[in-house]
Amino acid sequence: MILKDLTYMDKKEDVLILAIESSCDETAAAVVKNGRTVLSNIISSQIALHTLYGGVVPEIASRKHIEKINQVIEEALLKADTKLEDITAIAVTYGPGLVGALLVGVSEAKAISFATRKPLIGVHHIEGHISANFIENKDLEPPFVCLVVSGGHTHLVVVRDYGTYEILGCTRDDAAGEAFDKVARAIGLGYPGGPKIDRLSKEGNPEAIAFPRAKVDGASYDFSFSGLKSAVLNYLNSCDMKGIEINRADVAASFQKAVIDVLVEHSLHAVQEYGFRKFAIAGGVASNSALRAAFKAECAKRNITFYHPSPVLCTDNAAMIGTAGYYEYVKGVRSSYDLNAVPNLKLGER
Ligand code: KG4
Ligand code: ZN
Repeated sequence: MILKDLTYMDKKEDVLILAIESSCDETAAAVVKNGRTVLSNIISSQIALHTLYGGVVPEIASRKHIEKINQVIEEALLKADTKLEDITAIAVTYGPGLVGALLVGVSEAKAISFATRKPLIGVHHIEGHISANFIENKDLEPPFVCLVVSGGHTHLVVVRDYGTYEILGCTRDDAAGEAFDKVARAIGLGYPGGPKIDRLSKEGNPEAIAFPRAKVDGASYDFSFSGLKSAVLNYLNSCDMKGIEINRADVAASFQKAVIDVLVEHSLHAVQEYGFRKFAIAGGVASNSALRAAFKAECAKRNITFYHPSPVLCTDNAAMIGTAGYYEYVKGVRSSYDLNAVPNLKLGER
């Protein structure tokens, strides 16, 4: 249940948000002041653990979150030189994500909120990714177009206002990050694939192999990456059958270029069609160096201001949840204690 509380409007004090994020394989907590100043941002990554299995094992992720969450929150408060009683509100990711993983953060946030009598705010994970752009770009205000590319999501959205989104397109099948992870596995790079493809691509030729750029009929802003993934797998199989040695760097670079070309084309088409001069990227794949370089160059050519978070704020973190939580807080949004984990929460839904 969502409640409205605008009593904050009468006060002039700083708003300190304690934010918690546990939707996938990072246990994270942060303290954010007045929406855009990050006092602490603690991330305990489980990547090394899941690498053993070639991907995130949900049950292991939940157990690890339980082990780590108190320690991560204590560290975030300590680093921010803040006590729980000084916190204004607690923000927590409640979806989308792995249900068991989300539940750890949601239960923790509810317990802290109940014990301290501080307001609770449920935050959408993708809204968090988009809001990461506000942290280092103090001048950025809506409206603007944002491309969200993560392990689970590929969304092209117009950010009309804080917390108000118009979804222009999304993926019909695999998310961009998922495609990176699957192709990385196929060429033997292991998990997580995105950063490994990013690194290896620097040694390869992006024009070496002509992989397809998918168009979705009748929905010009939608994406599809499963055909590209199959094309890479077919290429690898046919090389194998013909006894041709595979140049992994060329495969990585050509695949990466095929993904980037489509992301750039769709995004800049939307920026121009909607008449905005501002464009932002968000999500784990937004830390990809070639993707950032391509957007930087294309935006400069068109006189569009390009915004992107630092790599550490692109991948999962709690500072972005604190920023998104702040903008919900000042609108008067409060969650009640029936807040639950919603694994397939849609953007813009409450
Ligand atoms: O946003 P995120 O941390 O988690 C989700 O909300 O899904 O994104 C993780 C995804 C993974 O698929 C990972 O391979 C990808 O982001 N990723 C990258 C890079 N760094 C992380 N993909 C391409 N290049 C990178 N440098
Ligand atoms: Zn994420």
